[in-house]
Amino acid sequence: MEMQVFESRAAAERDVAREIAGLVRRRPDAVLGLATGNTPTGVYAELARLRREEGLDLSRVRTFNLDEYCGLAPTNPRSFRAWMERELFVPAGIALDRVCFPDGFEAGHPVRVEELPRVCDAFERAIRDAGGIDLQLLGIGRNGHIGFNEPGSTRASRTRRVELHPWTREDAAAEFGGLEHVPTHAITMGVATILEARAVRVLAFGAKKRALVRRTLDTANDPAWPASFLCAHAGVRLVVDREAAT
Ligand code: PGA
Repeated sequence: MEMQVFESRAAAERDVAREIAGLVRRRPDAVLGLATGNTPTGVYAELARLRREEGLDLSRVRTFNLDEYCGLAPTNPRSFRAWMERELFVPAGIALDRVCFPDGFEAGHPVRVEELPRVCDAFERAIRDAGGIDLQLLGIGRNGHIGFNEPGSTRASRTRRVELHPWTREDAAAEFGGLEHVPTHAITMGVATILEARAVRVLAFGAKKRALVRRTLDTANDPAWPASFLCAHAGVRLVVDREAAT
């Protein structure tokens, strides 16, 4: 897996945002795979700045987010959907009818658990119908998860309902005002879904990520470390700052 080391987090974020901007200038209806969390925030802020200051037009891109908590309506301020509207869609001018989440809601209502496989299949189909993901942004969780593909996920996994790992819930506890309020399940794109993206940019910043970056580079196809499945993909680049580099 290729690793690209930048002097600073800001420099890395500018580079990734510039790559996305270049893609969108060539293909205004490019398909982006998007991630939430602390890691991609600077890339999103830079895309908003490019829109404001350089007239970058993102209004025609299609987006697919990696994951969403089960049971949170798209209008819930704690949903990833609401987070994405605040951090990227509105400031960058992305049309809200061109974004897609595996949220398990239909027409504003939660779909019953037994029916979620149908909703997950429809999400996969929507990606295929859009022509596939041109560029997928990813972070790495402290248990090696990508999206919410927790340890134990297989290379062949597809979009599905998953139980969240205890560390994943712990990491979200502050956001939810206590562990007991964090959803226990989520829907995530699968590993196989992610690996179908034509390009994948895995971002990792700060000393806290150094051991995760090391293990991702040192491991191959190990379900105990889902990020290790990325090793087989020629279009994956690990984008890190000095502190996260090993
Ligand atoms: P973070 O999360 O960006 O908040 O560090 C990464 C992840 O869990 O994928």
